Amino acid sequence: MNNRPHPLVAGNWKMNGLRSSLGELGAMAQAYDSALRAKVDLLICPPATLVHAASIAAAGSGIGVGAQDCHAHVSGAHTGDLSAEMFADAGASAIIVGHSERRADHGESDAAVRAKALAAVRAGLVAIVCVGETEAQRRGGQTLGVVGNQLDGSIPTELTSAQLVVAYEPVWAIGTGLTPTAADVAEVHAFIRERLAFLLGADGAGVRILYGGSVKPSNAAELMAVPNVDGALVGGASLKAVDFMGIAAAYR
Ligand code: 13P
Repeated sequence: MNNRPHPLVAGNWKMNGLRSSLGELGAMAQAYDSALRAKVDLLICPPATLVHAASIAAAGSGIGVGAQDCHAHVSGAHTGDLSAEMFADAGASAIIVGHSERRADHGESDAAVRAKALAAVRAGLVAIVCVGETEAQRRGGQTLGVVGNQLDGSIPTELTSAQLVVAYEPVWAIGTGLTPTAADVAEVHAFIRERLAFLLGADGAGVRILYGGSVKPSNAAELMAVPNVDGALVGGASLKAVDFMGIAAAYR
């Protein structure tokens, strides 16, 4: 386990947060002491309206700021869309792509997600590619097949472990308070690790694989201890500094 990738705990604020919410980010920055910094990377992905202000609020703290989605193109006639280059300009260091809420609400295909991952890297940012099965797919025994297909279709094989993070987020665990057992998480993460080795070669071993779905301070230590779990992608519990830092504390 010596060459485990350096862990990352990332917060996805989704469509939550006003300028007044940046106080929580300030509190996170205060609590992110040098001992914790040495053990775990932290990233907050606020809504697009707050990316620039968040990058200023987090400056010097070691907490990175990311975006939640991007358009695949650099610029052009795409009303309402935002490019990876725009997020880089606003101070982002990473972009979440292919979140299940985007796949479901906006019909994003694996090919679209792959194009967005490439766009993030084109702009010099880390692509956080999300995969995960629905409840019906898990009940139908299709979990590994679904996740494998999403990885094959969504991950550009030319990326390196420094440019890519994969987040396993079972759709049925998001915002429900339900989590898979540690054994189930271990099975899927080992499968993702193997698939990354197939897709990226030896560098696949260095890709951080995050678990996401109802992570909270009370279950973080157990989930983060699972082999091939290199951190967490946190939704609801990333909105409050006390909860988010309580999750990061699993790495103290
Ligand atoms: P919750 O932590 O609220 O379940 O959300 C997980 C998630 O979707 C993070 O991207």
